[in-house]
Amino acid sequence: MSIKRFGVSLDSEYLTELEYLVKRNKFPNRSQAIRFLIEKNMVETKWECNNMVAGIIMLVYDHHKSDICTRLHEIQHQHRELILSVQHVHIDSKNCMESVMVKGQAYQLTELGDKLCSLKGIRHGKLTMTAAG
Ligand code: NI
Repeated sequence: MSIKRFGVSLDSEYLTELEYLVKRNKFPNRSQAIRFLIEKNMVETKWECNNMVAGIIMLVYDHHKSDICTRLHEIQHQHRELILSVQHVHIDSKNCMESVMVKGQAYQLTELGDKLCSLKGIRHGKLTMTAAG
């Protein structure tokens, strides 16, 4: 891969953010940070496409909180064509962990993952996808 140089103009607040990114990730220089951001964007764009992928949506929540179990169930029933299996583990007296195995087009899984992970009461939510075709 050949290296090309180009100039970048940034507002100072963006430059501060870039410096913070360099420091936090221990990048050797700003170029590495920009490369990291471009790669991250490439991956995210890929996840919005029609490619067939498989994935896991991992959810951690307190089952006492509001009606979270009902809402999680409702959404999963609405998207049952994407869901292969669900495993529920009772981590402690109040916290539950659920792994939802999914398969479908990347954008569909991204939408489902966003819906589940953004539910009020979800302490931690993450969708991981991998190519399935
Ligand atoms: Ni539980």
